[in-house]
Amino acid sequence: MKILMLFIVAFSFLVSVRSLPVKPTLHYERIFNFGDSLSDTGNFLISGDVDSPNIGNPPYGETFFNRSTGRCSDGRLIIDFIAEANGLPYIPPYLQSVRTNFSVNFKFGANFAVAGATANEFNFFKERGISVTLLTNKTLDIQLGWFKKLKPSLCKTKPECEQYFKKSLFFVGEIGGNDYTYPLLAFRSYNQAMDLVPFVINKIINVTSALIKEGAVTLVVPGNLPIGCSAVLLERFNDPREFLYEPKNQCYKPLNMLAKSHNDKLKKGLMTLRKKYPHAKIIYADYYGSAMQFYNSPSKYGFTGSVLKACCGGGDITIDGRYNAKPRVQCGEKGSTTCENPSTYANWDGIHLTEAAYRHIANGLISGRFTKPPLNSC
Ligand SMILES: *[C@@H]1O[C@H](CO)[C@@H](O)[C@H](O)[C@H]1NC(C)=O
Ligand SMILES: *[C@@H]1O[C@H](CO)[C@@H](O)[C@H](O)[C@H]1NC(C)=O
Ligand SMILES: *[C@@H]1O[C@H](CO)[C@@H](O)[C@H](O)[C@H]1NC(C)=O
Ligand SMILES: *[C@@H]1O[C@H](CO)[C@@H](O)[C@H](O)[C@H]1NC(C)=O
Repeated sequence: MKILMLFIVAFSFLVSVRSLPVKPTLHYERIFNFGDSLSDTGNFLISGDVDSPNIGNPPYGETFFNRSTGRCSDGRLIIDFIAEANGLPYIPPYLQSVRTNFSVNFKFGANFAVAGATANEFNFFKERGISVTLLTNKTLDIQLGWFKKLKPSLCKTKPECEQYFKKSLFFVGEIGGNDYTYPLLAFRSYNQAMDLVPFVINKIINVTSALIKEGAVTLVVPGNLPIGCSAVLLERFNDPREFLYEPKNQCYKPLNMLAKSHNDKLKKGLMTLRKKYPHAKIIYADYYGSAMQFYNSPSKYGFTGSVLKACCGGGDITIDGRYNAKPRVQCGEKGSTTCENPSTYANWDGIHLTEAAYRHIANGLISGRFTKPPLNSC
């Protein structure tokens, strides 16, 4: 009898816990985000820099939003899961305010990230003899300028701003990945991309410190993903030398070394910033480490499709159909196909990841396991 009672009590407790809405685990009141397609929630699409880009069409958004929102995925991005974890609505793209004559409500923050954005500007590449066609010129500096323009509408006096920013979370990136991807996809060499690392880091550190001067106190600065596991780049290099692939996951070693070099220099840069601004909480987010979990043990995390092959794409140049990331046929274009169940894939369209992969990375940040110092410790 007693045991039965206990069972009933325990059971009803479980039921009541289960039916409660998800309690926010983080407590920021708003989020400001800077970056590229990894976190753009609509700016590129609104900007009109490219006429009817493929990300504005199905199957983009099919898993969660049921429509294309301008997010480069089948569903939510890391920044969307971060918003959810704070109990906040999804952060509106800044350019929505330009389109609607500044009637957008930025009460819960603003997203300045633009798909295709680089840390450095067009002339930086030109001066180095790397002529690349950028999809957008909305660089990190431009995004910082948008923030400065918006700021007077957010808070007025110094004490007011201090209170306001104390409860605000800033995400500076991921950004800079495109500074390498544009040249690499334009058949520039690995060494040419490697030479850019210090300049990319300088720009990220410069803008992060500018944001601190503007009042930001909690900043998350993510590193680069393991780009050696990226389907488009694997397809682009298509290197027959077996020893250049990591035996454990078949990712391309040289490109992962490029990402690691970027991340190591970024971490060093953040260390200097922490000394310079001891009042600020500067957090490094290890996207590389969190993503490496599923590249190393795909099935453990539900990626039973293929972890290196794009869910949506136009097949391969190589005959064996390994990556599904043919450069000339993009996801959503004629000749491309979409996998049945995107949640079993990590790669969405060759370049970007699926909602399932982003959810995994976001959980790694929210839990604190892949943020240093931990995001959840304040
Ligand atoms: C998308 O459609 C599904 C199925 O109709 C629905 O359950 C879900 O709420 C929709 N999602 C959004 C964000 O509207
Ligand atoms: C935008 O708002 C301003 C100020 O309220 C107004 O003067 C202007 O006409 C509006 N523009 C458009 C295109 O609605
Ligand atoms: C970016 O700027 C360069 C140089 O000013 C220009 O040639 C190019 O068309 C611009 N690209 C976009 C997408 O606006
Ligand atoms: C960022 O770099 C610019 C140009 O090099 C410089 O003028 C500015 O002072 C730097 N900003 C910060 C906050 O370090």
